[in-house]
Amino acid sequence: SQPVAPSQRVIVSARPFRLDIMEGRDVLMSLNSRGLLAFEQLRMRKDTFSYKVTSTVASVWDNIKRKAKEEEEKVEDGMWEETFKSHSDSKPNGPSAISLDFSLPGVEHVYGIPEHADTLRLKTTDNGDPYRLYNLDVFQYELYNPMALYGAVPVMLAHNAQRTTGIFWLNAAETWVDISSNTAGKTVFGKMLDYVQGSSETPQTDVRWISESGIIDVFIMLGPTPKDVFSQYASLTGTQSFPPEAAVGYHQCRWNYNDQEDVTSVDAGFDEHNIPYDYIWLDIEHTDGKRYFTWDPHKFATPKEMLQGLMDKKRKMVAIVDPHIKVDSNYKIHNEIRNRAFYIKNKDGGDYEGWCWPGSAGYPDFTRADMRDWWASMFAYDQYEGSMENLYTWNDMNEPSVFNGPEVTMHKDAVHGAWEHRDVHNLYGFYVQMATAQGLIRRSGGVERPFVLTRAFFAGSQRYGAVWTGDNAAEWDHLKISIPMCLSLGLVGISFCGADVGGFFKSPSTELLVRWYQTGAYQPFFRAHAHLDTPRREPWLFGPENTALIREAVRQRYTLLPYWYQQFYHSHRTGQPIMRPLWVEYPQDPATFALDDEFLIGKMAQDDKHFTFRKLILTCVPQVWFDVHTFQKHNGAQNLYIPVTISSIPVFQRGGSIIPRKSRVRRSSTCMMQDPYTLYVALNPQRTAEGELYIDDGHTFNYEKKEFIHRKLFFANNMLSSENLAPDAQFSTRSWFERIVILGASKPSKVTLKTADGQESQLEFDFDASMSVLTLRKPSMNAGLDWNVMLQ
Ligand code: NOJ
Repeated sequence: SQPVAPSQRVIVSARPFRLDIMEGRDVLMSLNSRGLLAFEQLRMRKDTFSYKVTSTVASVWDNIKRKAKEEEEKVEDGMWEETFKSHSDSKPNGPSAISLDFSLPGVEHVYGIPEHADTLRLKTTDNGDPYRLYNLDVFQYELYNPMALYGAVPVMLAHNAQRTTGIFWLNAAETWVDISSNTAGKTVFGKMLDYVQGSSETPQTDVRWISESGIIDVFIMLGPTPKDVFSQYASLTGTQSFPPEAAVGYHQCRWNYNDQEDVTSVDAGFDEHNIPYDYIWLDIEHTDGKRYFTWDPHKFATPKEMLQGLMDKKRKMVAIVDPHIKVDSNYKIHNEIRNRAFYIKNKDGGDYEGWCWPGSAGYPDFTRADMRDWWASMFAYDQYEGSMENLYTWNDMNEPSVFNGPEVTMHKDAVHGAWEHRDVHNLYGFYVQMATAQGLIRRSGGVERPFVLTRAFFAGSQRYGAVWTGDNAAEWDHLKISIPMCLSLGLVGISFCGADVGGFFKSPSTELLVRWYQTGAYQPFFRAHAHLDTPRREPWLFGPENTALIREAVRQRYTLLPYWYQQFYHSHRTGQPIMRPLWVEYPQDPATFALDDEFLIGKMAQDDKHFTFRKLILTCVPQVWFDVHTFQKHNGAQNLYIPVTISSIPVFQRGGSIIPRKSRVRRSSTCMMQDPYTLYVALNPQRTAEGELYIDDGHTFNYEKKEFIHRKLFFANNMLSSENLAPDAQFSTRSWFERIVILGASKPSKVTLKTADGQESQLEFDFDASMSVLTLRKPSMNAGLDWNVMLQ
């Protein structure tokens, strides 16, 4: 479906059907080369023929009925009904699966198809289960396992040093992906031996997709670069929504903050310990008996007072709104949904009922646009009592979770109008978040950006907010897996991702908690969360030294907010991921292809380190990196062993980049809006560098009306300049530059600032010869204007 470049051809042969996508004489990808294309024809079961037919069509019907009867006579086990534990699936359409294979010559690395708790590079599945995509509320998920989790994005990327391609299998039914490779299991040595002996065949990866129902609807993305694949995929499903700036800050959550006093005291704790945060979260216990859109009348008797208290401090709240609705004739939300016939139906035509937090619950049919519209209207301030503009939403349990359903989810033969649940299962959570985000936008008359967190997701969920990796555990391996899990999501468009900091189940050791904050501070969605039964773990409960370490990690996040925010803007505009595997930036460097304990944020590197010494691969590409804390310079193309202590967060700025920060950390991101910037300019060996600065009001959609500042910052020929990337945009800021730090610099004899009005002035500076760091003090120019600084 993507335009094929002039050098590319698609060769289709009919018998047997096969499709080869060629570039010159190379096959980039073949479809059905293994002949695994399969689809069941639509059948009808005899007992579904209860229709009354008119005489004119009677003979046609007779024919169909006869055929259906013949079909039914070919009965195999499970064709027309299946049982799972105590559940039965009536399968009114009989078997309906589809399948197709894809061959990828020259490819040894494939990625994507989240959500799985597995390595970034996908494994071959010859000796085990295929990767499964079926949104499920999994209790205590296992690691390094292809089992299905809460979300599903049926997109796979294939990469080698020459090209990146992608396959988007657009199907929301239960899906399985099998991967095999002719080089699987061979060591690097074995491959070299093959090569030396001339016996190596071209590496190839073969993939087979199988879905339980629906049609084969596939989009092939031909790259050739990773960047191209991201924008090709974004053109199909959209880009990351641009969040309010505050949502990029730190979020404090637990199941549950008990009452308003508890909220007030946790909020005060952050001030007392000088730790910034932006959102405090309320889990299901804040409601009146798990009736969403309500408040517990005793524990949260005056929600507006509570929200106003937070607002006075420029802070916000998130409250949970799950999609299962308590069946209770005294509950307005339930009555309205039932009266409007908005509930999903069971196979017999009644409202589907399942068991969830509130007991017996109905499940609104979010696949209906009119249902979503109504749901969105429930977020209006006069509908959602006790809500205010600093209250945002968390959608959980939207796989959907049905405690007494098969595999803790909905029966596949439940009915959404013309569709069975089987056909749309993996889309349910997507639509819940879509409707909620619409609600938050609409309550402000379309002015304010929403923030909605979801647990279940599908291709395109990036358009509606953030995703987290569900119920992880307070274990080292869970901290480690958070990196490949978020990287895999970023590769398929979902940039705003994070894992529960500290681990949801169990209680982290203090060291693990500290290390989790240090990692979480460098992942896009940064939220601590914990299970109801765990001991409290606010950052100040582990002794002053650990509080200081956590404070430092959170403060590092806040100093980097300008950079994070610009990364979000970039992702929103272009579809590029924020948290990136190294191979995305170094696509020709095979040493990076399987790395998933180091990653880039935009172009800055973070390393996951928990031990006293840590090996860091600084990619084969000649490059310099600067330790962001010590400014120590490291050359690339080496494996570096760096000693670490509990206070180390190994983060490196790439030579050639410019990163804006704000060094005065305050209570919340909103309190820091007008604060001055510091620029960190890291020179590459060619003595150049570039970066961007993006500024807007931080919370409205006015950026779409060109109310923002977007500047390119670049250093070349000993001159640092700020150039307007959006001359037609209009926005002004009071923020100014309070410092410029140039890493890898040599000592100038004088430094001259020239501002937009042509004025020139000399700047004061310090030069640290041992580290080659030049610091320009108080250059003081406005962040939104043209200027340049000349080093002589
Ligand atoms: C399951 C979610 O994954 C978890 O984060 C939440 O605390 C509980 N549901 C209770 O709402």
